[in-house]
Amino acid sequence: MKVWISEKISKPWRENRKILASILHLLIHVGSLLPLLVGLWDFWQGNLGANPILEVTHRSGKTALTTLILSLSITPLRQLLKWNQINKLRRPLGLYAAFYAGVHLSIYVILDYGFLWGALLANSLTNKFILVGSAAGTILLVLAITSLNLFRRKMGASWKQLHRFVYGAGVLAGLHFILAVKPGVLRPWPYAAILLLLLSYRLPPVQTWVKKTR
Ligand code: HEM
Repeated sequence: MKVWISEKISKPWRENRKILASILHLLIHVGSLLPLLVGLWDFWQGNLGANPILEVTHRSGKTALTTLILSLSITPLRQLLKWNQINKLRRPLGLYAAFYAGVHLSIYVILDYGFLWGALLANSLTNKFILVGSAAGTILLVLAITSLNLFRRKMGASWKQLHRFVYGAGVLAGLHFILAVKPGVLRPWPYAAILLLLLSYRLPPVQTWVKKTR
């Protein structure tokens, strides 16, 4: 009976997971472009509240962090669900994370500081959360550039090592969020908890357990 039920459930799953991965791929593009379109619409309609620059800074930061977390979730999901087809979702998610980090930084440089480089540097060098955010942004930018097939081919084995820095970007981005808010504000903690869970998954004892159960 148990075998029959698991057969009944696993057969359609096995047959349809390629199609499901393609649907997810499409949803990722739609879902990742939506915050940009909604942001532009709200700007057009004047729906960005009393401090529009801070509002778009917060929105772009949260979208960058969310897409980064989603890209970090792909490997655990692939392994736990034995769903190799979702591996192709990691790259677009990583690129969207880098894109929104770029938008977030541009808002800071252009709208917040109006290219006043002196004031921008003075404030950035004395603000820990900006320094941490800049380190995360730099890693995301380097990873986005080297995600091109040309670099992948040229770099060989070192490509994989370099792309492990995505976990470092996740930690720094989470820390940036924690430092950006006032003490006691709980907004960053759900993100930090998910990041901690994803990082724990990479620990050698957890990996050994995963390999045993596969
Ligand atoms: C590239 C350099 C970066 C700069 C200059 C920067 C700057 C800022 C600033 C000025 C704020 C607003 C703080 C406030 O409330 O007053 C902020 C918040 C935030 N940033 Fe960044 N950031 C950078 C990189 C990143 C990256 C790489 C991520 C994520 C991948 C990120 C995610 C966030 C989040 C989640 C918030 C808080 C949003 C909220 O409070 O709702 N930032 N950042």
